[in-house]
Amino acid sequence: MPRILSGIKPTGQLTLGNYLGALRRFPSFQEGNEPFIFIADLHALTLPIDPKLLRENSIDIACFYLASGLDPKVTTIFLQSSVSEHAELNAILQNYLYMGELKRMTQFKDKSSKMKDEAIGMGLFAYPVLMAADILLYNSDIVPVGEDQNQHVELCRDLVRRFNGRYGEILKLPKASVPETGARIMSLADPHKKMSKSDPKGDIFLKDPMNVTRKKIMSAITDCGSEVTYDPVEKPGISNLLTIYGAICEMTPQEAANVFKGYRYGEFKKAVADKVVEELEPFQNRYLAIKESGEYKDILRDGAARAKKIAHKTLTKVQKAVGLLVL
Ligand code: AMP
Ligand code: TRP
Repeated sequence: MPRILSGIKPTGQLTLGNYLGALRRFPSFQEGNEPFIFIADLHALTLPIDPKLLRENSIDIACFYLASGLDPKVTTIFLQSSVSEHAELNAILQNYLYMGELKRMTQFKDKSSKMKDEAIGMGLFAYPVLMAADILLYNSDIVPVGEDQNQHVELCRDLVRRFNGRYGEILKLPKASVPETGARIMSLADPHKKMSKSDPKGDIFLKDPMNVTRKKIMSAITDCGSEVTYDPVEKPGISNLLTIYGAICEMTPQEAANVFKGYRYGEFKKAVADKVVEELEPFQNRYLAIKESGEYKDILRDGAARAKKIAHKTLTKVQKAVGLLVL
């Protein structure tokens, strides 16, 4: 059965971007595949984070995973830091990706551009190495991610070719799966910027009360003109709202634009707000109930034990291949 692997890092509150680009799609992989979905807590340490927040965010993501419809009997759900093989494989693989490659990563450039060298942690620089370890430990076939992570998966593919070229067919070549609609949700306050966990004005957080979500959509930046058409260059604000609507209704933004022919901006925004609330409200209620029940703890423990068995086999294979003595 094809293996699916993905993760979200607990660096802040999850956004509608996380939901439409990644989370919402995870349960659809449960049929006919073997999914591994984890909380990338080690990755969350790559920028300074308050320990209490890290813990809270990690629990939140576990509960959001379950609320999204992931069934822990089918999907192995776990914390990255609970499976020490991630760190061990990371230590080996860091020798097979190079400074030049890592320096070129868009995420690294974005995150480090405003920082002095003295403040940039090694982990931020080596972020894609750990991500490659995550993917490769489970012999993953498909990695569902939003567009921003595609470059990291490509780098992981380069690493596999390089490693296997040297040691034989040891690592499985993975492939990213980016959604057709919703791979890059933009900020509602600035449609030229990606919606990200660190921008409270332009974000819709999955934990926002529904009246706040509604208000954020109604006050989203729109564009000149009055017609609802999909044109990311001329009408980035409207196009982003069409993408959001399309991703929820599983249609392309162009198809969504057809639905709103003849609508005024105000009416259109109200329809998008209704759709988002219709989608997020029951999801949020499920999340709250799961969190309250505390069931995530056992699920994460079981998940880690299951993950470890598989991860350990791959780690041993890699250790042997590179010449480490496995006694
Ligand atoms: P992160 O928050 O960086 O851990 O991202 C978790 C997942 O959400 C990754 O697959 C990202 O590609 C995806 N993601 C994050 N922000 C967005 C966005 N604005 N639009 C679409 N997908 C996103
Ligand atoms: N880097 C991903 C993000 O920021 C999270 C992540 C870590 C991940 N390891 C992964 C995603 C492995 C897919 C596969 O979104």
